[in-house]
Amino acid sequence: MTVNIYADRSPRKRPKLPVKLATRTLNADRDAVAAAARVLGEGGLVAFPTETVYGLGADATDGEAVARLYAAKGRPRFNPLIAHVADMTAARELARFNADAKALARAFWPGPLTLVLPQARGCPVAELATAGLDSIAVRVPDHPVAQSILKVFGRPIVAPSANRSGHVSPTTAAHVQADLSGRIDLILDGGPTSVGVESTIVACLGVPTLLRPGGVSRAAIERALGRPLADAEPSGEAPLAPGMLASHYAPKTPLRLNAISVNPGEALLAFGPDAPKGAAKTLNLSASGDLVEAAANLFSHLRALDAGGFTAIAVMPIPYESLGDAINDRLARAAAPRP
Ligand code: TXA
Ligand code: MG
Repeated sequence: MTVNIYADRSPRKRPKLPVKLATRTLNADRDAVAAAARVLGEGGLVAFPTETVYGLGADATDGEAVARLYAAKGRPRFNPLIAHVADMTAARELARFNADAKALARAFWPGPLTLVLPQARGCPVAELATAGLDSIAVRVPDHPVAQSILKVFGRPIVAPSANRSGHVSPTTAAHVQADLSGRIDLILDGGPTSVGVESTIVACLGVPTLLRPGGVSRAAIERALGRPLADAEPSGEAPLAPGMLASHYAPKTPLRLNAISVNPGEALLAFGPDAPKGAAKTLNLSASGDLVEAAANLFSHLRALDAGGFTAIAVMPIPYESLGDAINDRLARAAAPRP
């Protein structure tokens, strides 16, 4: 099956594209790195090697590019992504570092460690990439190709592992080709990756907590911290503070899904050209009915309506196709009653 994730890409950003993308694979030399930066700047998708696994990169500051990335992976949900940057100076523009985070960055960056941190004020990363959370996952990779792309591009790059959703993470360019050829613009071949498993993820939002084991061992992290890590799974003895690891963004205002009309006092999260009149405030995910644009607007529109103090947010039906599945998944969780 071929999915045209570029169908509604604005012509200003990119000329007309074929339904199926011609995925180029280039040896990761200097020209290829320049090409990668160009493609990313046009909102395209580039797979590149890191020391852990190959990542599928998009401009972290471009919500529509991020939406296309989810579509290319076929992810059924908007999991938050890791923002990759070249160095600590760039990382500080995205996130706030407490003493633990500084110690870990000093010990392991560049390298296979991802830190989940509070977002810095004015963090330029698209809300879709952080799935609407106030935290952000940041990593400084150690691979020379990843480093060159980040330096030449000059903006943060979000990159999940470069595989179709549900498949194993790729450690060679051939794995990426097998999974994503025809769905992305460019693959940079830098040979097999050296670490071969994903980065270790540690949250420094309070008690430092291991969210995912990976390329840096728990023992090495605990040595650098000078104390033990908590586990994301409460281990009976020391349950985590509630809300500390809030895994997804949830608005305070009740959501009413599949609304085709609005009640008095309600705000409206609209989709498509036929929004009903009469809402206290209306924001349209995409007036033209473009699911890529809708995904890019989802979290920022939800937040804006949530801040208005309305009795409820009526949400128009979103079609269950391409990115619509992930949008509906998010809306269903946001609408679910919470404890
Ligand atoms: O080695 C790696 O980390 C590779 C390379 C390409 O850098 N990337 C990677 O990304 O494994 P991905 O998307 O496959 O895994 C990212 C993980 C997800 O499990 C996601 O839920 C978690 O990071 N994550 C991202 N932001 C988060 C946040 N704010 N809070 C908690 N978890 C977060
Ligand atoms: Mg993955």
